[in-house]
Amino acid sequence: SAGVNSLHTFTDEEELLRDSVRRFANDVIGPRVRDMDENENMDPAVIKALFEQGLMGIETSADHGGSESSFTSAIIAIEELAKVDPSVSVLCDVHNTLVNTVFRTYATEAQKDQYLPQLSDSRLGSFCLSEAASGSDAFALQTRAELKGDHYVLNGSKMWITNSYEASIFLVFATVDASKGYKGITCFIVEKDMGVQIAKKEQKLGIRASSTCTLNFDDVKVPIENVLGGPEAIGKGYKVAIEILNEGRIGIAAQMIGLAQGAFDKSVAYAFQRKQFGKAIGEFQGMGFQFAEVATEIEAAKLLTYNAARRKEEGRSFTKEAAMAKYYSSVVAQKAAGSAIEWAGGVGFTRESGIEKYWRDSKIGAIYEGTSNIQLNTIAKFIQKEYS
Ligand code: CAA
Ligand code: FAD
Repeated sequence: SAGVNSLHTFTDEEELLRDSVRRFANDVIGPRVRDMDENENMDPAVIKALFEQGLMGIETSADHGGSESSFTSAIIAIEELAKVDPSVSVLCDVHNTLVNTVFRTYATEAQKDQYLPQLSDSRLGSFCLSEAASGSDAFALQTRAELKGDHYVLNGSKMWITNSYEASIFLVFATVDASKGYKGITCFIVEKDMGVQIAKKEQKLGIRASSTCTLNFDDVKVPIENVLGGPEAIGKGYKVAIEILNEGRIGIAAQMIGLAQGAFDKSVAYAFQRKQFGKAIGEFQGMGFQFAEVATEIEAAKLLTYNAARRKEEGRSFTKEAAMAKYYSSVVAQKAAGSAIEWAGGVGFTRESGIEKYWRDSKIGAIYEGTSNIQLNTIAKFIQKEYS
């Protein structure tokens, strides 16, 4: 069928998951996409349905209430959701590939037992690294955590935090000792009712249903047991952040290839209905060549993404491949979504068509989880190591 990669092999389980997420996205999310975009608000029914569908603990073990599926399954789910709504896709992506993965990889057994079942069942998570003065330079963060008796006291502010309007579990990166530079960074498990305050909800160009907020932490008391990974993990938060982001970037690549395919499918289908000069506009060679070029680029971006995912799953090095996948997929998504508008002519320019939204949503791929320049930096460092 249209848009399914034919070159790459997926397991039967992965193919089944793709079909079920596709049906779910079309039936449950599809009818709500435009309103959520216009209202700049995620419908709580969508979040509830994602949990019920088993999409919020994709890799989490069955013991902890999850679906116990592969990393590639998570990638497929993110891709399929993005075909219909990139906002819902990133909600699911942050929750799974950042928050759940941090817990599965770095939490103590007690923290896993406490939080993973809730994160699979009903509680949404956020990953709080960026601040107003530290975006690309993430390790220059200023939020601090001071030990006082049996708890830490957090003070500072986080900016641009996805899911934070709806979330109740926050992974917060703060420094326990600013004099140690990034070696003071520690990750804390912070619950909303410990005193997390939403200071501002951003209004954005795209992914407008996905919440992005500034969070204030004013003397937030966090029990010592909530140092992610326990006392020996103090000062190791920077490694947690970047190692999770290395793989999280494959998730954003998946969001971008889904978005590109979603825009392509909608616009090309229209082009074979729409008639000008007595025939379907899609039949003009000038259109067909453009479809062919963009379809080839989407295919290339998919292969980069699936390859990075499989390498990660197989325990092979994947950081360079993930950066390439994220960088290239975001370029392709912007081009595909921009072309999709042109192919549909005036109709594509209207909000009613649902095509222009993909273009607005595509822009974020080059910004979050490390800008395109940060991906290029990462790739360039590998090249330097290989050749110098
Ligand atoms: N993988 C593993 N380790 C890495 C690494 C990588 N890609 N890049 C750096 N490191 C390690 C280094 O090895 C070093 O650790 P050691 O001292 O233990 O060896 C340490 O990090 C510092 O290295 P650098 O001095 O080279 O790093 P830097 O300070 O110049 O920048 C960085 C490091 C902050 C990770 C930067 O490269 C980066 O990626 N910035 C982007 C930040 C980002 O992605 N933010 C995303 C926020 S979450 C989000 O955006 C979610 C969403 O929207 C959906
Ligand atoms: P800057 O770092 O100021 O970058 C501005 C420009 O300078 C960019 O073009 C960049 O490429 C360039 N630049 C910076 N440094 C270099 C360099 N060394 N070499 C070359 N060029 C450079 N963060 C979280 O922690 N959690 C989240 O859930 C989250 N969600 C987000 C959701 C949205 C919608 C947005 C917009 C952001 C989100 N972020 C989140 C933050 C995001 O990761 C940062 O915006 C991103 O890392 C870039 O940081 P910045 O915005 O401060 O830009």
